[in-house]
Amino acid sequence: MFEILLNKSVRIESKRLFLRPFQASDAEWYYAMSLKNKEHLRRYEFGNPVMTIESVEDARKVLVGMSLDWGKNFFLGAFNRQNGEFIAQIYIGVVNWGLPEYRVGYFVEQGHEGQGYVTEAVLAALDFIFETLGAQRASLECSDTNSRSYHVAERCGMLREAHFRQNKHTPDGAVEGTLFFGMLRSEWEARRAYKPAAITLSPAISSPGE
Ligand SMILES: CC(C)(COP(=O)(O)OP(=O)(O)OC[C@H]1O[C@@H](n2cnc3c(N)ncnc32)[C@H](O)[C@@H]1OP(=O)(O)O)[C@@H](O)C(=O)NCCC(=O)NCCS
Repeated sequence: MFEILLNKSVRIESKRLFLRPFQASDAEWYYAMSLKNKEHLRRYEFGNPVMTIESVEDARKVLVGMSLDWGKNFFLGAFNRQNGEFIAQIYIGVVNWGLPEYRVGYFVEQGHEGQGYVTEAVLAALDFIFETLGAQRASLECSDTNSRSYHVAERCGMLREAHFRQNKHTPDGAVEGTLFFGMLRSEWEARRAYKPAAITLSPAISSPGE
């Protein structure tokens, strides 16, 4: 596990995707992606650094920030295995090293919504969390109005553990609640019929694909 914390060239494979950390050389396409997805991400990702990007240089700073955070927060791009196209961004954050517990977050590139890619990428991320990072627990939270997001959690087999009603404002000043999902190590082991995800520490990968 400690090797993973130092090694940023981790690569996780699933049926249609591979996941890898971002790198500074992703800046040009990441900038274009951020422009294209601004409206798509405005409602539920308004706090995401991707929303602050206004130039290639901004994109580079965001990507370098993600890279420097590796070991504390793991930001992974999910790419199509066939053509290297960017599909989704997956976030794995450390909630509690002692347990350990990790939190998952994500967004999909708008052109790839509704094709099961995020579910596939999150399952691969859960495999990484439980098998490689040794998690006792994985968690996920989302707005109670974000049905696409909580359906991902449900499809991945995470349990709804809590619902805080009307506990925050939307970007437009309305109120909404938050749903909390969790999965225990024992639950992951019980559903390991899903066979992902080769995880390798590979040499540097060129962008955006291979
Ligand atoms: C939330 C979000 C990531 C969900 O993305 P998504 O594309 O709906 O999720 P998936 O990739 O798992 O796709 C699921 C859909 O693909 C369909 N699908 C097709 N093939 C599939 C497969 N092999 N496996 C699973 N689902 C499949 C499912 O039936 C489902 O369809 P539906 O939309 O008609 O219900 C996306 O809507 C998004 O980026 N939103 C904006 C940002 C955001 O909300 N982030 C989360 C904040 S908590």
